Amino acid sequence: MGDTTPATPTAPEIATVGVVGGGLMGSGITEVAARAGLDAVVVEVTQDAAEAAEKRVRDSLAKAESRGKITGQEVNEVMERIRFTTDLGLLADRDLVVEAASEREDIKLALFERIGAILEKDDAVLTSNTSSIPIVKLGAISGRADRVMGVHFFNPAPVMQLVELIPSLTTSEATLERMQTFVTKALGKQPIEATDRAGFVVNSLLVPYLLSAIRMYEAGYASAKDIDRGMVLGCGHPMGPLALSDLIGLDTIRAIGISMYDEFKEPLYSPPPLLDRMVDAGLLGKKSGHGFYAY
Ligand SMILES: NC(=O)c1ccc[n+]([C@@H]2O[C@H](COP(=O)([O-])OP(=O)(O)OC[C@H]3O[C@@H](n4cnc5c(N)ncnc54)[C@H](O)[C@@H]3O)[C@@H](O)[C@H]2O)c1
Repeated sequence: MGDTTPATPTAPEIATVGVVGGGLMGSGITEVAARAGLDAVVVEVTQDAAEAAEKRVRDSLAKAESRGKITGQEVNEVMERIRFTTDLGLLADRDLVVEAASEREDIKLALFERIGAILEKDDAVLTSNTSSIPIVKLGAISGRADRVMGVHFFNPAPVMQLVELIPSLTTSEATLERMQTFVTKALGKQPIEATDRAGFVVNSLLVPYLLSAIRMYEAGYASAKDIDRGMVLGCGHPMGPLALSDLIGLDTIRAIGISMYDEFKEPLYSPPPLLDRMVDAGLLGKKSGHGFYAY
């Protein structure tokens, strides 16, 4: 008789991914997944937004092709692995869903409630790319809290190596291990682990710096160009804080600042009035064509 001890059940490899929100981050995460050979579905709110997401992925792949990082044939193969839709129902058969919709708690809570009910596979993992919204709340409303965690990519996702992994109080060890393996082996990225507190590691340090630069500009200490040149030439940063704010998106920085302020009541996290006014005016940075600089 052979060994009758049942093998420890191991979760199957992740082969199918859903990405909710095909903006700056969602389109980048989709590209990363599809280039890693995974089948991807991207869900957006409107047909126009779905088409814009497709264009973002295509443009990014064209750039990679022009730099010799990928061939024309590979671009076609990658695009064939991605479907762009407005139908959340297409997430039903996914092994993994990455939510990358706008940084608003009401939007994310509504999505987690719906997606939690849509996912058909018992071991499917539901993650958020949120920068600051409590993962534990997203888990609770999804009805599958042990299989929910934060998986936080950096911008631009196809280039940046770091992924923050954020298990909440209710995330199972198996889910965390599965995401560690996925991020490292399937995507070839480098994870760090952070606690479920607004901002995690990187934004807790970065956002107060960006907000301080905006305050400095607002107070008239120096021009935007000189503030940025100061940090590039004086500290060796690849980009100054105002240019980086434009790249991240001013609405996103404002939302992260608000969540961090709500959590810690630390004045440095509170968005300055100029940032509020710029967001109200639709000056969102690079993605809207205008922020601290014109694009
Ligand atoms: N911008 C960054 O540098 C950065 C970095 C890391 C993480 N994040 C996080 O990633 C998430 C997305 O940020 P972004 O910069 O891509 O924002 P974005 O504004 O570029 O894109 C958000 C997208 O979500 C879509 N959306 C909104 N509601 C939706 C819904 N109910 N269903 C499907 N799609 C919906 C919007 O149409 C939009 O295309 C946020 O949680 C943000 O905090 C952003």
